[in-house]
Amino acid sequence: MSLSTGCLWSSFMHYPETKLPNVGTTIFSVMSQLATEHHAINLSQGFPDFDGPQLMRDRVVHYMQSGANQYAPFIGVPSLRQAIKDKVARHYGADVDAESEVTVTSGASEAIYAAITATVRQGDEVIVFDPCYDCYEPAVELNGGVCRHVALDLPEFKINWQALEQAISPRTRMIIVNAPHNPSGASLSRDELDRLAELIRDTNILLLGDEVYEHIVFDGLSHNSLLTHKELAQRSFVISSFGKTYHITGWKVGYCIAPGALSAELRKVHQYITFCTPTPMQLAIADYMNTHPEYESELSGFYQKKRDLFCHEIRRSRFEFTPAKGSYFQLADYSQISDMDDVSFARWLTTEAGVAAIPVSVFCERPKPDARLIRFCFAKNEETLKHAGERLCRL
Ligand SMILES: Cc1ncc(COP(=O)(O)O)c(C=O)c1O
Repeated sequence: MSLSTGCLWSSFMHYPETKLPNVGTTIFSVMSQLATEHHAINLSQGFPDFDGPQLMRDRVVHYMQSGANQYAPFIGVPSLRQAIKDKVARHYGADVDAESEVTVTSGASEAIYAAITATVRQGDEVIVFDPCYDCYEPAVELNGGVCRHVALDLPEFKINWQALEQAISPRTRMIIVNAPHNPSGASLSRDELDRLAELIRDTNILLLGDEVYEHIVFDGLSHNSLLTHKELAQRSFVISSFGKTYHITGWKVGYCIAPGALSAELRKVHQYITFCTPTPMQLAIADYMNTHPEYESELSGFYQKKRDLFCHEIRRSRFEFTPAKGSYFQLADYSQISDMDDVSFARWLTTEAGVAAIPVSVFCERPKPDARLIRFCFAKNEETLKHAGERLCRL
């Protein structure tokens, strides 16, 4: 008898219970799909609608045509690790060892997953700040850990130190710090880093610094990487993404910097997730970083223009907002327009007004019932931003 029909299989097969009962399709995919179906302008998912540097793309072609098509060394090609080392020395005055402390990964997402998997055990607690990027908690749960959510203080999305102190327990393995912050763009000040250091000084708590928007900070502010803080850097996985910096999110190349002992553990996991990251992309990024070291410092100006344009376009709308201080997201309060909850409003905005955005409550464990915030991505061409602004001003 043939077993080729799905029906027959399912009659005697018991599939295991899901390991992630609280996880469905991410809101980013849901909103992007809805935007496509309704021909809406997609300001929901965080990716640019323009390409990365031409020269970098040319170098990928060059490397593919000249035989660089096999596995890269699992920790990353030497030229890219060296370029990362040079970059963090330039920006943060950090002296890291390219051989033992820098690991190239398949996007920041893989580095985050590997860092958590390498260190979080059954029953461990990991502190995250809400609103919180969505890939941390599933990784913690798959490793038997539990996330403790600490709400940031609005409207400036600052750490509530009392709440953080209360959330720390003998089981706290790690604190995840995302700065510049998605979705608010908030950064950490030098004083806040010192305060964090003081709070965890006598513990073994690790830090995971998600710094994928490190080169996108506005109005003359600077990004205080965990790498600038010697004491914190000793207990940190500092993670970034070339996707965000070079407008190449689809290449999925990122990296993690951590002290040798932590990097060694991360690498044990990384080698069994992807083993390595595509070779031609790594070589091309390294070449571009070496020939254009000024690029990273110019990125804030590039995105500040976009932020300013978008804010200018929506200044006559009924949305209320404070211009973002970093990242490529702008939050906006829609309470003058509607009293719908934010998920319903984001759907309505996509299907009826033709602009897709992300509801902020999906980043929170316990969203405030009266919160009326949505997130727009302004990593878009001028025409896209102007067009979206026109539509938003009609509401
Ligand atoms: C805060 C944050 N961390 C990590 C990532 C994932 O980066 P990558 O695409 O390099 O995996 C993103 C992407 O949107 C992000 O916003």
